Amino acid sequence: MTSSTSSGAPSTDALRAGPPQRLLYGRRVGHRLRPGRKRLLEELLPKLAITLPASGHLDPRALFSRPVAAVRLEIGFGAGEHLEAEAAAHPELGFIGVEPFVGGVARLLSAIAARGLDNIRILVDDARLLLPVLPDASIRRIDVLFPDPWPKTRHHKRRLVNRETVAEFARILEPEGELRLATDDPGYARWMLAALLAEPRLIWCAERAADWRTPWPDRPLTRYERKALAAGRKPVYFRFLRRSEA
Ligand SMILES: C[S@@+](CC[C@H](N)C(=O)[O-])C[C@H]1O[C@@H](n2cnc3c(N)ncnc32)[C@H](O)[C@@H]1O
Repeated sequence: MTSSTSSGAPSTDALRAGPPQRLLYGRRVGHRLRPGRKRLLEELLPKLAITLPASGHLDPRALFSRPVAAVRLEIGFGAGEHLEAEAAAHPELGFIGVEPFVGGVARLLSAIAARGLDNIRILVDDARLLLPVLPDASIRRIDVLFPDPWPKTRHHKRRLVNRETVAEFARILEPEGELRLATDDPGYARWMLAALLAEPRLIWCAERAADWRTPWPDRPLTRYERKALAAGRKPVYFRFLRRSEA
């Protein structure tokens, strides 16, 4: 059975693939950690780590030790350079970063310690476990930057972005809240767009094709993005807004 239409766009069935049998794919632990980073995982991470509540309800603002004007979410932050830069640039906001890869979490922790950032909280797990416990309209912006593309058809069901996660993004975004997604995989770009355009609570900000070929100017490039550009691949950038009336 194929999960693509003849035009190359993913079929509706594929986008409704339902929960994967195993939630996480890819590596969680990489090379051996330097002693300093290991110590940060043992000592700093427990202070910043998000524990999924048994009640099934998490107030994101209550995660922070001081009041924050709004909360942003970055899913799959990798080594965390983008999250670190955004949190440093916006001390008035709280940031939730989600990343199951422990090496990336350790790098972010070392940046948090070096820069004294107090507005980042971290879930070291699958983002799909966090989405259902976040209340409606509780997140100002969601960044999903270069999620693993899983290009083989038989692996498409592993993709993080699908109709179900997009519906959760729409639910948890504040009215006028922003969703940013980027990918360098043309097949995943079509797949994402099909899921995004099918969600009535979201509106695409692009006015012309050049808009989604142009990196957003107001942020640092991610590590994966630099590699993609260096290899000559052309990422696409999608910005959607949460409709206020839906
Ligand atoms: C291709 S990397 C991109 C990392 C970073 N955003 C960048 O652009 O450099 C994709 C990241 O998503 C993470 N990831 C994979 N599945 C995830 C999931 N279910 N929830 C959260 N993060 C996930 C991976 O561990 C990996 O770090």
